[in-house]
Amino acid sequence: MPTSSARAVVDLDVTGPTISKHLYGHFAEHLGRCVYGGFWVGEESPIPNEGGLRLDVVEALRALDVPNLRWPGGCFADAYHWRDGVGPKQERPVMVNTLWGDVEENNHFGTHEFMALCELLGADPYVNGNVGSGTVQEMSEWVEYLTRDGDSPMVRLRKANGRDEPWKVPFWGIGNEAWGCGGHMRADTYAELASRYATFLHNHDGNELHRIAAGAADDDLAWTEALMKVVSCLGCTSRPRGVFQAISFHFYSFAGDGISKSSATEFTDEQYYRTMVKAADIDRVIAAHSAVMDAYDPQRHVGLVCDEWGTWWEAEPGTNPRFLHQQNTMRDALVASLHFDIFHKHAARLRMANIAQTVNVLQAMILTDDSDDAGGIVLTPTYHVFEMNKGHQDAAAVPVHLIERPDRVAVGDDGLDPLSVSASTKDGKALVSISNLALDTDTALRLDLRGREIAATRARILTADKPQSHNTTTAPDAVAPTEFAVTLRSGELSMVLPPHSFATVELELA
Ligand code: AHR
Repeated sequence: MPTSSARAVVDLDVTGPTISKHLYGHFAEHLGRCVYGGFWVGEESPIPNEGGLRLDVVEALRALDVPNLRWPGGCFADAYHWRDGVGPKQERPVMVNTLWGDVEENNHFGTHEFMALCELLGADPYVNGNVGSGTVQEMSEWVEYLTRDGDSPMVRLRKANGRDEPWKVPFWGIGNEAWGCGGHMRADTYAELASRYATFLHNHDGNELHRIAAGAADDDLAWTEALMKVVSCLGCTSRPRGVFQAISFHFYSFAGDGISKSSATEFTDEQYYRTMVKAADIDRVIAAHSAVMDAYDPQRHVGLVCDEWGTWWEAEPGTNPRFLHQQNTMRDALVASLHFDIFHKHAARLRMANIAQTVNVLQAMILTDDSDDAGGIVLTPTYHVFEMNKGHQDAAAVPVHLIERPDRVAVGDDGLDPLSVSASTKDGKALVSISNLALDTDTALRLDLRGREIAATRARILTADKPQSHNTTTAPDAVAPTEFAVTLRSGELSMVLPPHSFATVELELA
């Protein structure tokens, strides 16, 4: 096996921007088996549950310190009418989820069930409202229902449905993909509309809403600019600043041309590398959106949010193609670890990110087994990346200078840097994350740890025989973290990273 060498300087005494814990956010849509079967099995299910919420999934996710959960969509958000999902379950109307499989939606998982799920997870709710087929009044009343104290029509309705106390809802999405499934609008049209909606999303009784305007696909910078013009309105006096506090964008990784999908588990080396090139491109995309935002908002009042990201493969054979159920391999894990390094780098502007989606859909953390009444779950390689990286949440990014790098891998007309590293410090500890994306090269890495003495280290690695390796009910730990040998001598940490591997090193600072 060829070995490349690399060296990086890590400035442990330099404090960069805070890596918001919300960069590790999640997403649950009424799509396929994410909500129904994934989070929700109903009170009558033999699968252990609390109020219908399956406890094996909740318990596994609690280990990730899930900071926030986005719901109910995605595209479904712009078809969802929240009043259908409150009140006695047997009286809730049934609708057809025309977006995702044309299946009946019985609305048994609604506002109260979502808020109970967030409470069980210890996650902040991120509710995505309906612009496409809803009204300003409907969205405004949902905010009132959730967050207002005292007495009002919506408060009385909430109390009649069994909840006296208001909830805290810090994050609110104003529609979704308004350029597509959210209404096929032009940027200027949506920007005006989002401004109007946001105006009527009130901060009730100390609940401070972070209003998030639905943003671009990939690098549609004109969309971001249209939103920034509305929010900052340079040179105009009549429009208030700050109608919304953040702008989102969505970014998915594919193996091919960005349109046709390919298999989740059967892929060539070239498809592997193409996926990594696409995933790495989020660096350019975030930088480009940030540059547009900087022009209108140099103080960075407005946050950038990537509220859908992850891999998108062909659906698992034998499943409903509109359920977007896919397996998850070591390749997916490396897409995740690469994204996180890039997110950390852009932490000053990027305030939140949500992987699509948490359970059973697209790049999931958990796949549930519905084959019998006992249930059962499989933790995916992506799950392990979230767990190994959780020490970065709300930590200070520290600079990593790669002064000797492995050669770039040629991928068609593109190239890929096969080594990716990021680091942060928090509470007297540092965490360094390292991805070796190369398929056939070990990387001998030396990290020159500067500015602080190191008292202890603990390293773990996630890798497998091949990048196609994945976990199943019969082989649940085919890809799981193991202890990893590193050497610390005179402030230099050395390690040899095998191909397609992800490692974390926790450093206790003296
Ligand atoms: O995550 C699946 C879908 O992808 C979402 O509903 C939509 O917003 C995006 O196109």
